[in-house]
Amino acid sequence: MKNVLVVSYSQSGQLADIVGALSRPLAEAGVRVHHEPLRPEPDFPFPWPFFAFLDVFPESARLEPRPNRPLALAPEAAFDLVILAWTVWYLSPAQPVTAFLQSVEGKCLLAGKPVVSVVACRNMWLCAFDVLRELVTEAGGRLVDHVALTDEAPAFATFITTPRWMLTGRRDRFLGLPPAGVDARQIEGAARFGVALADALARDKEKRGQPMLEGLRAVKVAPHLVLSERAGRRAFRFWSGFVRRCGRAGQRRRIPALMLFVLYLIVMIATVVPLNLVLQRLAAPLLARRVAALVRHYEQPSGAGNARMTAHE
Ligand SMILES: Cc1cc2nc3c(=O)[nH]c(=O)nc-3n(C[C@H](O)[C@H](O)[C@H](O)COP(=O)(O)O)c2cc1C
Repeated sequence: MKNVLVVSYSQSGQLADIVGALSRPLAEAGVRVHHEPLRPEPDFPFPWPFFAFLDVFPESARLEPRPNRPLALAPEAAFDLVILAWTVWYLSPAQPVTAFLQSVEGKCLLAGKPVVSVVACRNMWLCAFDVLRELVTEAGGRLVDHVALTDEAPAFATFITTPRWMLTGRRDRFLGLPPAGVDARQIEGAARFGVALADALARDKEKRGQPMLEGLRAVKVAPHLVLSERAGRRAFRFWSGFVRRCGRAGQRRRIPALMLFVLYLIVMIATVVPLNLVLQRLAAPLLARRVAALVRHYEQPSGAGNARMTAHE
């Protein structure tokens, strides 16, 4: 019997639903699934008070997370495969996931293990995935697959619906905009990854260090976001450093710096982001090769192909 460890952190329950859909076929196939939800100490609020939502920015971007409570399982527990289900906070992995990957316990559990990454977020996971890949490697794990599920509503809509959801807990239709988050069809569809993993485990494929989720449309990389995200990450590096110099997490004296950061974000979203998209379109022939190479990079290891979709639908 194969043993799979699922590590996750979900606030609203969206990622928890995806983990549920993906784990069910594994359990049905006789795989022993151990689920370990991460528990920060103290936990982050949901819905978020406005300043708490902003206040996690510097430490998320700088990979200096709040620690988690000890795990329920022994760090020396042995697993055949680890599924790491995570979300994105400010273009970086959410703090509880970073804390897990940096912890002695996390490193012990991941050492030498094949790791499947599953991210669910608004739509900007590329830079965070670079970070996650590095943290998994530093922890001694081998990242063999990556699945990304995102909110498929237009970006201008999710700029409104995602913060509304995070700050009020409400994700329903609003001002004619679609509901926030990953839609139910995609969440249920995550079961195909569980079916494919169960099949791969039955054939010992996890031992080969090769992807097991190819041909299942595991990721879809939006070419227009590739360069924007990189620019955003550079800006976040500057701003997180600036806010940090003004005070530590939770200190009131960094509120003015956080307000400046919000102002910057609003101006960027209203002006530079649309301008950048127009410029990218105009410069498309010059940028095409670089963007195509980056898209290929982010599609690794599981790929965007759909050759095996019918077998799993
Ligand atoms: C503080 C914070 C920052 C976030 N930043 C991003 C981001 O940079 N990119 C993105 O695509 N989603 C971002 N999100 C959305 C999350 O990735 C995720 O979709 C959402 O929190 C729901 O996940 P849950 O299962 O934990 O409820 C952010 C959410 C929070 C709470």
